[in-house]
Amino acid sequence: MTEATVPATPTGPRGDLCIRTLAMPADTNANGDIFGGWLLSQMDVGGGVFAAKVAKSRTVTVAIEAMNFRKAVYVGDLVSVYAHLVRIGRTSMTVRLEAWVVRRREEQPILVTDGNFTYVSIDDGGRPQPIKRDGMIAT
Ligand SMILES: CC(C)(COP(=O)(O)OP(=O)(O)OC[C@H]1O[C@@H](n2cnc3c(N)ncnc32)[C@H](O)[C@@H]1OP(=O)(O)O)[C@@H](O)C(=O)NCCC(=O)NCCS
Repeated sequence: MTEATVPATPTGPRGDLCIRTLAMPADTNANGDIFGGWLLSQMDVGGGVFAAKVAKSRTVTVAIEAMNFRKAVYVGDLVSVYAHLVRIGRTSMTVRLEAWVVRRREEQPILVTDGNFTYVSIDDGGRPQPIKRDGMIAT
Protein backbone atom coordinates (compact mmCIF):
# COMPACT_ATOMS: atom_id res chain seq x y z
CA MET A 1 0.00 0.00 0.00
CA THR A 2 1.37 3.43 -0.85
CA GLU A 3 1.71 6.32 1.55
CA ALA A 4 -1.12 8.11 -0.26
CA THR A 5 -3.70 5.41 0.54
CA VAL A 6 -2.92 4.91 4.24
CA PRO A 7 -4.48 7.64 6.39
CA ALA A 8 -2.05 9.69 8.45
CA THR A 9 -1.24 8.29 11.87
CA PRO A 10 -3.03 10.20 14.63
CA THR A 11 -0.81 11.50 17.42
CA GLY A 12 -2.64 9.53 20.11
CA PRO A 13 -5.56 7.17 20.68
CA ARG A 14 -8.98 8.57 19.82
CA GLY A 15 -12.17 7.50 21.57
CA ASP A 16 -13.12 5.27 24.49
CA LEU A 17 -10.91 2.43 25.70
CA CYS A 18 -13.05 -0.67 25.17
CA ILE A 19 -10.65 -3.61 25.58
CA ARG A 20 -7.09 -4.13 26.84
CA THR A 21 -5.18 -7.42 26.64
CA LEU A 22 -1.71 -8.89 26.37
CA ALA A 23 -0.48 -10.52 23.13
CA MET A 24 0.50 -14.09 24.04
CA PRO A 25 2.55 -16.83 22.32
CA ALA A 26 -0.67 -18.74 21.49
CA ASP A 27 -1.73 -15.80 19.27
CA THR A 28 1.24 -15.98 16.88
CA ASN A 29 1.37 -16.82 13.18
CA ALA A 30 3.92 -19.02 11.40
CA ASN A 31 6.47 -16.16 11.51
CA GLY A 32 6.24 -15.87 15.28
CA ASP A 33 4.50 -12.46 15.12
CA ILE A 34 0.96 -11.88 16.32
CA PHE A 35 -1.68 -13.20 13.89
CA GLY A 36 -3.68 -10.44 12.20
CA GLY A 37 -6.91 -12.39 12.68
CA TRP A 38 -6.41 -12.38 16.45
CA LEU A 39 -6.00 -8.62 16.42
CA LEU A 40 -9.06 -8.20 14.22
CA SER A 41 -11.12 -10.29 16.64
CA GLN A 42 -9.95 -8.20 19.61
CA MET A 43 -11.06 -5.08 17.73
CA ASP A 44 -14.41 -6.67 16.89
CA VAL A 45 -15.00 -7.68 20.51
CA GLY A 46 -14.11 -4.17 21.73
CA GLY A 47 -16.24 -2.53 19.04
CA GLY A 48 -19.14 -4.84 19.93
CA VAL A 49 -18.96 -3.79 23.57
CA PHE A 50 -18.97 -0.13 22.49
CA ALA A 51 -21.83 -0.63 19.97
CA ALA A 52 -24.00 -2.50 22.49
CA LYS A 53 -23.55 0.38 24.92
CA VAL A 54 -24.62 2.92 22.29
CA ALA A 55 -27.57 0.84 21.04
CA LYS A 56 -28.54 -0.45 24.50
CA SER A 57 -29.20 -3.81 22.83
CA ARG A 58 -27.48 -6.81 21.30
CA THR A 59 -25.56 -6.00 18.14
CA VAL A 60 -23.91 -7.96 15.34
CA THR A 61 -21.07 -7.03 13.05
CA VAL A 62 -22.27 -6.57 9.47
CA ALA A 63 -19.21 -5.05 7.77
CA ILE A 64 -15.54 -4.20 8.30
CA GLU A 65 -13.99 -1.58 6.02
CA ALA A 66 -10.93 0.57 5.58
CA MET A 67 -8.68 -1.70 7.63
CA ASN A 68 -5.06 -0.66 7.90
CA PHE A 69 -2.43 -3.02 9.31
CA ARG A 70 0.28 -0.46 9.97
CA LYS A 71 2.80 -2.22 12.22
CA ALA A 72 3.51 -5.76 13.44
CA VAL A 73 2.39 -6.82 16.92
CA TYR A 74 4.74 -8.93 19.05
CA VAL A 75 4.34 -11.31 21.99
CA GLY A 76 4.30 -9.26 25.18
CA ASP A 77 2.78 -6.15 23.57
CA LEU A 78 0.00 -4.58 25.64
CA VAL A 79 -2.88 -4.11 23.18
CA SER A 80 -5.55 -1.45 23.76
CA VAL A 81 -8.54 -0.91 21.49
CA TYR A 82 -10.24 2.49 21.32
CA ALA A 83 -13.62 3.24 19.74
CA HIS A 84 -15.50 6.28 18.59
CA LEU A 85 -18.77 6.65 16.72
CA VAL A 86 -18.50 7.96 13.17
CA ARG A 87 -22.02 7.31 11.87
CA ILE A 88 -25.37 6.32 13.27
CA GLY A 89 -28.18 5.14 11.02
CA ARG A 90 -31.62 3.68 11.63
CA THR A 91 -30.54 0.23 12.84
CA SER A 92 -26.78 0.39 12.22
CA MET A 93 -23.80 2.39 13.34
CA THR A 94 -20.21 2.67 12.15
CA VAL A 95 -17.51 2.67 14.80
CA ARG A 96 -13.92 3.70 14.14
CA LEU A 97 -11.63 1.30 15.98
CA GLU A 98 -7.95 1.83 16.66
CA ALA A 99 -5.61 -0.76 18.21
CA TRP A 100 -2.57 0.72 19.93
CA VAL A 101 0.24 -1.25 21.54
CA VAL A 102 2.84 -0.49 24.15
CA ARG A 103 5.82 -2.76 23.61
CA ARG A 104 7.77 -4.34 26.44
CA ARG A 105 10.24 -1.94 28.03
CA GLU A 106 8.69 0.97 26.10
CA GLU A 107 6.22 3.65 27.12
CA GLN A 108 5.07 5.25 23.88
CA PRO A 109 1.86 3.81 22.39
CA ILE A 110 2.05 2.82 18.71
CA LEU A 111 -0.95 2.64 16.37
CA VAL A 112 -0.93 -0.83 14.82
CA THR A 113 -4.35 -1.23 13.18
CA ASP A 114 -7.46 0.81 12.54
CA GLY A 115 -10.69 0.34 10.64
CA ASN A 116 -14.40 1.07 10.37
CA PHE A 117 -16.67 -1.58 11.86
CA THR A 118 -20.43 -1.46 11.24
CA TYR A 119 -22.75 -3.00 13.82
CA VAL A 120 -26.49 -3.60 13.60
CA SER A 121 -28.79 -3.47 16.61
CA ILE A 122 -30.85 -6.67 16.74
CA ASP A 123 -33.85 -7.94 18.68
CA ASP A 124 -34.18 -11.31 20.41
CA GLY A 125 -35.00 -12.92 17.07
CA GLY A 126 -31.82 -11.58 15.44
CA ARG A 127 -33.75 -9.06 13.32
CA PRO A 128 -32.52 -5.47 12.87
CA GLN A 129 -34.23 -3.03 15.22
CA PRO A 130 -34.14 0.80 15.33
CA ILE A 131 -31.49 2.33 17.56
CA LYS A 132 -32.98 4.46 20.33
CA ARG A 133 -31.21 7.78 20.67
CA ASP A 134 -31.83 9.83 23.81
CA GLY A 135 -35.30 8.35 24.14
CA MET A 136 -36.02 8.90 20.42
CA ILE A 137 -36.14 6.09 17.87
CA ALA A 138 -33.99 6.72 14.77
CA THR A 139 -36.03 7.08 11.58
C1 LIG B 1 -26.85 -7.88 10.34
C2 LIG B 1 -28.13 -8.49 9.80
C3 LIG B 1 -29.08 -8.79 10.97
C4 LIG B 1 -28.77 -7.45 8.89
O1 LIG B 1 -29.93 -8.03 8.35
P1 LIG B 1 -30.51 -7.44 6.96
O2 LIG B 1 -31.72 -8.23 6.65
O3 LIG B 1 -29.42 -7.37 5.96
O4 LIG B 1 -30.98 -6.00 7.40
P2 LIG B 1 -31.08 -4.66 6.58
O5 LIG B 1 -30.91 -4.86 5.11
O6 LIG B 1 -32.37 -4.03 7.06
O7 LIG B 1 -29.83 -3.80 7.10
C5 LIG B 1 -29.78 -3.39 8.43
C6 LIG B 1 -28.78 -2.27 8.52
O8 LIG B 1 -27.49 -2.79 8.22
C7 LIG B 1 -26.90 -2.01 7.18
N1 LIG B 1 -26.09 -2.90 6.37
C8 LIG B 1 -26.46 -4.11 5.85
N2 LIG B 1 -25.41 -4.64 5.19
C9 LIG B 1 -24.40 -3.75 5.28
C10 LIG B 1 -23.06 -3.75 4.81
N3 LIG B 1 -22.57 -4.75 4.08
N4 LIG B 1 -22.29 -2.68 5.09
C11 LIG B 1 -22.76 -1.65 5.84
N5 LIG B 1 -24.02 -1.61 6.35
C12 LIG B 1 -24.82 -2.65 6.05
C13 LIG B 1 -28.08 -1.44 6.40
O9 LIG B 1 -27.69 -0.29 5.67
C14 LIG B 1 -29.01 -1.13 7.53
O10 LIG B 1 -28.61 0.06 8.19
P3 LIG B 1 -29.63 1.25 8.64
O11 LIG B 1 -30.86 0.62 9.24
O12 LIG B 1 -28.87 2.05 9.67
O13 LIG B 1 -29.95 2.03 7.41
C15 LIG B 1 -27.88 -9.80 8.99
O14 LIG B 1 -27.20 -9.46 7.79
C16 LIG B 1 -27.03 -10.79 9.79
O15 LIG B 1 -27.53 -11.43 10.72
N6 LIG B 1 -25.75 -10.94 9.41
C17 LIG B 1 -24.84 -11.82 10.12
C18 LIG B 1 -24.17 -11.06 11.27
C19 LIG B 1 -23.11 -11.89 11.93
O16 LIG B 1 -23.29 -13.09 12.13
N7 LIG B 1 -21.98 -11.25 12.26
C20 LIG B 1 -20.82 -11.93 12.76
C21 LIG B 1 -20.93 -12.26 14.19
S1 LIG B 1 -21.28 -10.90 15.23
